[in-house]
Formats: sequence, structure tokens, C-alpha cells
Amino acid sequence: MSIKLNDNYNNAKKSYLFSEIGRRVRTYREAHPDSNVISLGIGDVTLPLTPTVIAALHSATDEMSKKETFRGYAPEYGYDFARDAIVSHYAEYGVTLSPDEIFVSDGAKSDLGNIVEIFGDNEVLIPDPVYPVNYDSNVMSGRRISFINATKENNFLPMPDELPRRSMIIYMCSPNNPTGAVYSKEQLKKWVSFARETESVIIFDSAYEAYISGNYPHSIYEVDGAKSCAIEICSLSKTAGFTGVRFAWTVMPSELIINGVQLAQMWARRQATKFNGVSYIIQRAAAAALSPEGMAECRELVSYYMKNASILSSVLKEKGIWYTGGVSSPYLWLKCPDGYDSWSFFDYLLNNAEVVGTPGSGFGAQGEGYFRLTSFGSREATEEAASRLRRVL
Ligand code: MLT
Repeated sequence: MSIKLNDNYNNAKKSYLFSEIGRRVRTYREAHPDSNVISLGIGDVTLPLTPTVIAALHSATDEMSKKETFRGYAPEYGYDFARDAIVSHYAEYGVTLSPDEIFVSDGAKSDLGNIVEIFGDNEVLIPDPVYPVNYDSNVMSGRRISFINATKENNFLPMPDELPRRSMIIYMCSPNNPTGAVYSKEQLKKWVSFARETESVIIFDSAYEAYISGNYPHSIYEVDGAKSCAIEICSLSKTAGFTGVRFAWTVMPSELIINGVQLAQMWARRQATKFNGVSYIIQRAAAAALSPEGMAECRELVSYYMKNASILSSVLKEKGIWYTGGVSSPYLWLKCPDGYDSWSFFDYLLNNAEVVGTPGSGFGAQGEGYFRLTSFGSREATEEAASRLRRVL
């Protein structure tokens, strides 16, 4: 008799969305060795790290070269200087947190994938479409999943009004990946009061908060009462160009207590057992990115990418293609033209324009017939992609 495997994996798609896109692009390149494919698929940044971050990386590297300042294992939940920098970042939005409510990690993806571990057999409410990690990680752990549809009709901002009044783990992301939709404070208040009333827990992904323009909450904790019902996960990947550097955090407020158990303590226990912290050098870089000079530089990165978003938007407008996003979000979410479904539109653009985007159906059934473009390309690549799209659409 052989060992038993986790059969829940049989219920997950064969490959992760962005791995599948990578595979299809490699196949195309092999078949077309002279191709010049532009990727507007995965949201990977292209601008280099900013001067403040680079200076911090150099100086922390120098510290590691000297006996007196060398550091070994980092504290499991983050160095005080990094946790303090995150606390100050939240203070700018009027949110008061304590450093021990912050758990530093190597990525929002890891935290979103791992967080399921501290919960038992609950119903999990997932918006459709959704960042695939949230769905896949719950499938892999055999959770009971319900969906709440994010559609053109509800501006991709589903609300809890029609939901059954029972406890659930609720995933939210604002600004949203993939649709770019952003919840207002009034809307978040409704979600927080639903979660409190039903003793649900919200897992709030704020990885794109730096892209908000206008008066929208950057953190769910801007809503009173959220600390007793919400976990927040954020990252420097898109804010400071850290996709290859890796730095994120999870906020577990001390008020978040379920059946007498503080979730922060469970997460602390999990992280101490299974995670060995983020390196000193990277934490110094993160603290530098979160400093006032660092944040001023980050705002320049964001505005560069948002200019790309407007370059891509203008093609869609010219061609009369319905889209949303690209305002408080680096993603444009468009309706595939001419009745294409998401993957056939992917193939059409790859074969005719050598432009790669992300099929909406990869984010869930409601994403079928939609397509996502990212504005994280270089200006040159984005302009070239825009002119190719102009030609083929
Ligand atoms: C995306 O393209 O959705 C993101 O870049 C993926 C990620 O952050 O892991």
C-alpha cells in the first residue's frame, strides 16, 4: 500500500495561472525564434529600485561584511525598525497600529497562501474573479468555497447585502486585482459590519493601495471596528518595485479574537515554526522605501506606471473597447472584442501582435470574456504594445 497524497490537489487546475501563461509564451517563442513578445501579463515591475532603497541595500550589505555589525537569523516577525516603519506608514492614513501587530514576510502571495492554515473547516467566501492564490490555496486545503460575483453590473464591487447571515472567511482586495475596482469607505463599512454581525473574518489584500487616486481607503482599518474582524496583507512589490526583492507584511490586530483565541498568537506560532524571517538587508531596504524620501520616490514609480495605464487606455477608448481600471490600479480590465473568449483573445493577441495579457477566465468563471493588461511594462514596451494593439484591434 502506498502513502496517501493530498487529493485536494486533484481539484486544483493543472498549473498556476501565470505558470500556464509563461508556458504558452515559451512555446510561442520556440516556434518563432525571431519574435519580439511584449509581456503585459503578470504584474511584474520593470523600473529599477529607487536611490534611497539602493543606498540602504549597500549600507546594510556593508554592515554584514563586518564582524561588529554582522547579523544572523532575523527576528521571526521582523526587526523593530521595519515594523516601526510599517506602523508609521499606516499612521499616514490615520490608522494606529502597534509594532507587535505586524508580521513581516517575504510576500503577500506567501501570506495569502499560508493564512488558511490557522482556520478550521469554515465556509470561505471568494469574489469571482479573484487573485488565483486565494482560490487555489483554499482548493488545495479542501475548504468549502462559496463565490460572490464581481460583475460589470455591480461595478466589480460585490456587497454583502444578499449574503446569508453566517460566519465565513471573506477574501477582499481593493484596489482589486484583477479588475482595478476600489471600495469606498461607505462600502467597506458595510463589509465590516457584516463581518462583525456574522462573526466572520475578512482577509483584506491591500497590495495595490499605493495606486489609489482620490478619496478611497488605503487600509481596511480606516473603518471603525475593522480591527476586530479583519486581517490585512500588504506588500512592497508594486509600491516600491520589490517583486524580485520580496518584502510584505500581515497585520493581525490584537483585538482580533475568535473563541477567546487571539489570531495574532496563532499566526505568531505558525510563522515561528515555519518561517525564518526576511533578511536584514531586505528589511533595511524596506524601511528605506517606507521612509518619507523612499515614499516620495515610490510615488514617482507609481506615476510612471499610471502614465503607461493611460497610454493603454487611450487605445481601448479609440477602438471602442469597454474597459475599467487603470485609474486607481495598474491593471486594465477589458471586455474581449468581437465575441472572443478570454483564452482565444490571448492567442489572438499573441499571434497577431506578440502582446501577452492575462485571460480574465484565469481569475474565475466571471472573468470569462474579459482580459487584463498590466501597466508595469517599460515606457518603450508599453508604447510599442499600444501601437501594435492599435493595429490589430
Ligand atoms: C499578478 O499579475 O496578478 C500579480 O503580479 C501576481 C502576484 O503578485 O503574485
